[in-house]
Amino acid sequence: MTEQTFPKDFLWGGAIAANQVEGAWNLDGKGLSVADVATFKPHVDNKDFSAHMTVTTEAVKEAAADETDTWYPKRRGIDFYHHFKEDLALFAEMGFKTLRLSIAWTRLFPTGEEEEPNAAGIAFYKNVFKEMKRLNIEPIVTLSHYEMPLALSLKYNGWVDRSVINDFVRFANVCYDNFGEYVRYWLTFNEIDSIHRHPFTTAGIIPDKSGTHLENDIYQALHHQFVASALVTKAAHEKIPESQVGCMLTKLMTYPLTCEPTDVELTLKKNLENNFYADVQVKGMYPKMILKDLENRGIKLKITAEEREILKDNTVDFVTFSYYMSMAESGDPKAERTPGNTVLGVKNPYLPSTEWGWQIDPKGLKISLIELYDRYQLPLMIVENGMGAVDTVEEDGSIHDPYRIDYFKAHFKQMKEAIDEGVDLIGYTSWGPIDLVSAGTSQMTKRYGFIHVDADDEGNGTFDRSKKDSFYWYQKVIETNGASLDE
Ligand code: BG6
Repeated sequence: MTEQTFPKDFLWGGAIAANQVEGAWNLDGKGLSVADVATFKPHVDNKDFSAHMTVTTEAVKEAAADETDTWYPKRRGIDFYHHFKEDLALFAEMGFKTLRLSIAWTRLFPTGEEEEPNAAGIAFYKNVFKEMKRLNIEPIVTLSHYEMPLALSLKYNGWVDRSVINDFVRFANVCYDNFGEYVRYWLTFNEIDSIHRHPFTTAGIIPDKSGTHLENDIYQALHHQFVASALVTKAAHEKIPESQVGCMLTKLMTYPLTCEPTDVELTLKKNLENNFYADVQVKGMYPKMILKDLENRGIKLKITAEEREILKDNTVDFVTFSYYMSMAESGDPKAERTPGNTVLGVKNPYLPSTEWGWQIDPKGLKISLIELYDRYQLPLMIVENGMGAVDTVEEDGSIHDPYRIDYFKAHFKQMKEAIDEGVDLIGYTSWGPIDLVSAGTSQMTKRYGFIHVDADDEGNGTFDRSKKDSFYWYQKVIETNGASLDE
């Protein structure tokens, strides 16, 4: 007999990232981050994820010199900086047990290289954590979520330079010293694998600075992030006795388009590649086949014996991942493709898609849970999941979003099945429980929230918050610990 509800103490909640919500990009001593130069171009098709991503040194410098926020929606976010009490109160009203959020490195260290942190930045996050404590919302904090100091990117080509490890460790230690009394759960790098898909956003790499070494530089920067992740895991364990540190993977579940063996082989390799990033952080070493693959491709990684030890000795306590969609793989170059989360995959004929072409696949979430738990045998958390959609505000201000409810309901049922089959899933945070600026397209109109924010792509609007139908639906799911899913 299986229980009707989710496990007692299941961490229900939502997830946001500083660069997509805070705004206040130039207030109280904050420095420019890579997110602050991400543009929104209304004249291009923003359903193509790559539309705004031509990163060159010249374009970055030009954007950095622009003192307005007109074309840079991440500078505005949803003004969480000034609305955080109201937003946290709404999350508490929904019954959130947890909120995943990130700390903007540039609010604490404007260029990344200061010896001492910016006191105003520390004060802001302390106020946020105090309010969360008052509301009984457990924080899950990501140290790096697409917002490294732009100065480090321009000076060192971001994480390509080993010295950035020290800057990041200094930042993490300041976070632990100041927020450790409030925060138990820490994640090191958001979607560490995404460095291949958007090297600038994830690691501050400007392609023209790398020239012909771009691919090699990306792997070297990734290696530096792995080492930094291990070092800050160690520091958290030393400084915060109760701390639990997790890695964070973009789970890009891939199926063979057919059972033709080449399709199966390509798919297997794609999934091995996707898991490799968590493998390093959980097992403390690079998988042998990945090293061989790098060698075959002429990639030369500098890995010292000391770094190997650091990786081996400082593995994570739990595994987290984002899950939005799945895709297929095929040996047929003519197979139809469709966009996903910053990827282009083969279209699966059995699945529907969102308006942005992401294929909706609740069963893929269950398969991912089973696969990851079997592979790592560590507690799992889903720390991002949801669907971006265009919402309509009715004349009376209400927002009916049955498509969002359907999406979540189907995914929650699959989570429950996985738990009943033995997977140790300890928490779930939906992506963007309040509408926020899209990471991929910088749009506001690609909405994920249970809470609507009155703002458009150009920043027009009151920024007032209002509840969608899904707000009440999720509130009930949490209140009944999942029992309402059977209604
Ligand atoms: C995840 C990122 O990959 O996808 C988030 O961690 C992001 O930052 C989310 O917002 C959804 O993607 P998008 O492009 O729709 O915002």
